Amino acid sequence: MSLALLGGAPVRTRPFPAWPVYGQLEEQALADVLHSGFWGGYNDSIQKLEQRFAALHQAPHAISCANGTVALEVVLRACGIGCGDEVIVPAFTFVATATAVLLCHAQPVFADIERDSLNLDPAAVAAAITPRTRAIIAVHFGGRPADMDSLAPLARQRGLTLIEDAAHAHGARWRERPVGNFGEAGTFSFQAFKLMTAGEGGMMTTNSAPLAERMWSYCNQGRRLQGGWFEHFTLGSNYRITGFQAALLCAQLERLEEQNRRRQANAAHLRRRLAGFTGLRLAPEDPRVGNDPHYLVTLRYDAGAFAGLPRDRFIEAVRAEGVPLVATYPRPLYHNPVFHNGAGRCHCTARVPPQDYRHLSLPESERACRDGIWIEHHLLLGESGDVDDMIAAFAKVQENAASLARAGVGSGA
Ligand SMILES: Cc1ncc(COP(=O)(O)O)c(C=O)c1O
Repeated sequence: MSLALLGGAPVRTRPFPAWPVYGQLEEQALADVLHSGFWGGYNDSIQKLEQRFAALHQAPHAISCANGTVALEVVLRACGIGCGDEVIVPAFTFVATATAVLLCHAQPVFADIERDSLNLDPAAVAAAITPRTRAIIAVHFGGRPADMDSLAPLARQRGLTLIEDAAHAHGARWRERPVGNFGEAGTFSFQAFKLMTAGEGGMMTTNSAPLAERMWSYCNQGRRLQGGWFEHFTLGSNYRITGFQAALLCAQLERLEEQNRRRQANAAHLRRRLAGFTGLRLAPEDPRVGNDPHYLVTLRYDAGAFAGLPRDRFIEAVRAEGVPLVATYPRPLYHNPVFHNGAGRCHCTARVPPQDYRHLSLPESERACRDGIWIEHHLLLGESGDVDDMIAAFAKVQENAASLARAGVGSGA
């Protein structure tokens, strides 16, 4: 059968489940806020969302904010991290994990990831600690929690603040304990592609009441919960979400657990179907991980099993067959110009030598950018037949890989 990329019929013409998922629940929630006439950041729905989100993550405190980037920045500021401090972050993550550090005038220090989990490698973190290190931001990448057995004690023993960037990991658990609960604070995103969304939005969780107060105050113009509207005690800003966002997120939260279960079932089917397939590998399961929401399922591509076809050409061919795979990040964060041009440097840091990221090369982060392929979460929200179509598309491209490699049509690779 000829490849769709070369003019043949595609494996699949039906679209995969779209994102976001919404319905009567969301419509009603939005209408309720609309008719309340009380649209801003002090609508009742905000407290409701914070309470429900805190309960899901077994956190005593959850504070909403404008987005996941701001959540990281606020947590760092509330933890007192600033000028000249070093914060260890993974090199394979979204830029916000590291730029939030720069926004606080601190310095991100990139550490490598583990090959399978794509999360911070605890040994690399330990090796990156210097006398200026103040914090570690562990990303629960793709929804799979980072190794909290190692990172939490390491942070404790070295007197470092542990922050969990759980932007991908709503509802995930490590040894039955929900994420956002292991360090000083956790942060979440409700951006348009996240597991629950209001287009934008963020959340911070913490076990510490004083930290929660500082985070709330920072998002609310330096006010105090019991203080007056025009009483401002500390430097803050306006990082609130709106009533509309919070109401929408309450509705989205009601869908989350069922969606997580559906993705888990389809991901398990994918694992079974890939077991006999060469050239595409999933990370082994980790029994310590619970309720993996599968925000991003990462396949590792071995061109050797595809007649040397480059990864990006494989993705192009599979997409033409009707399966919208995407490549992982094009480069580790430290190759982005923003980390080379002095961004975020504070004048008073003149004494602190800037980090030089230009010659950094972290092998597992580089590898994941080279051979990783993502299946986005909403592709797993349908039936097992959707997974069978994925496998059929992979197999078809594999069968035709040699001719495709020779054809070189539309070579984006
Ligand atoms: C790992 C990670 N951290 C933080 C963020 C930032 O979240 P937001 O887009 O809500 O600012 C994202 C967003 O994609 C992310 O993937």
